[in-house]
Amino acid sequence: MADTNISSAIRRAGSWEVDVAAMAGTLVHEIKNPLSTININAQLVIEDWKEADTPRERRTIRRLTVISSEIQRLEHIVQTFLRFTERHELNPRPSSLNLLVEDLAELVGEEASGNDIRVRLGLDPHLEEFSFDADLIRQVLLNLVQNAQQAMSGTGGGELILKTRSVEDRGRRWAVCEVIDTGPGMSPRCLDKIFDLYFSTKDEGSGLGLAISRRIVEEHGGFFRVQSEEGKGSQFSVYLPLSA
Ligand SMILES: Nc1ncnc2c1ncn2[C@@H]1O[C@H](COP(=O)(O)OP(=O)(O)OP(=O)(O)O)[C@@H](O)[C@H]1O
Ligand SMILES: [Mg+2]
Repeated sequence: MADTNISSAIRRAGSWEVDVAAMAGTLVHEIKNPLSTININAQLVIEDWKEADTPRERRTIRRLTVISSEIQRLEHIVQTFLRFTERHELNPRPSSLNLLVEDLAELVGEEASGNDIRVRLGLDPHLEEFSFDADLIRQVLLNLVQNAQQAMSGTGGGELILKTRSVEDRGRRWAVCEVIDTGPGMSPRCLDKIFDLYFSTKDEGSGLGLAISRRIVEEHGGFFRVQSEEGKGSQFSVYLPLSA
């Protein structure tokens, strides 16, 4: 709730939006160092009190352990926030989306087959090279592939299909990469939130993958389309402009 209020306040602030976002980034950055000093010192005190034998000492050590784990939680929140706000230079160069997808399929192939996931490729041989930041788009596609694998490993395997093609849409040409899985799919309510920062349904998920991916794709002038059906699977399509 608080989160929504802050973002709508930022939106109302209009031209201040960038300033507020930059301030938040600086603030969190400033918090990071003292937090890590506090954490290290808490660990050292716990280490010192390891041989506690009176009830009072044991109580103290329990409280210190709670303090330390809460500090670690704060550190995790801070690191996650910084990973999202960090500006990455876009470095576009003529590259082959087909090659990138092929490499990715090879990279995940072994782990996939260990989890009973079959990887299929459907690459459009006529898709020309175009200008994009291959490292960042690789990061986007890797997150999509990992999401698909994680979704399917929960349902005993399935099929992971990676496709490329080009289309005319909104009056221009786009390169499209599709990541399709036959996993459990998502409910409409879940689908509504997947690009939200910190939204995750996984125990170990940070909920950053798709939020960062969307930012990277939009910085390229592109967009996402997602379709999903419960019990059937999901399809994530990344659209990247073929010309400036
Ligand atoms: N292919 C998929 N099938 C089913 N649910 C998915 C799929 N892809 C994404 N999701 C849902 O969207 C949520 C957000 O995904 P996102 O990649 O942003 O975060 P995450 O995978 O949970 O954590 P991480 O930050 O480690 O990537 C997931 O937790 C999951 O609920
Ligand atoms: Mg993810």
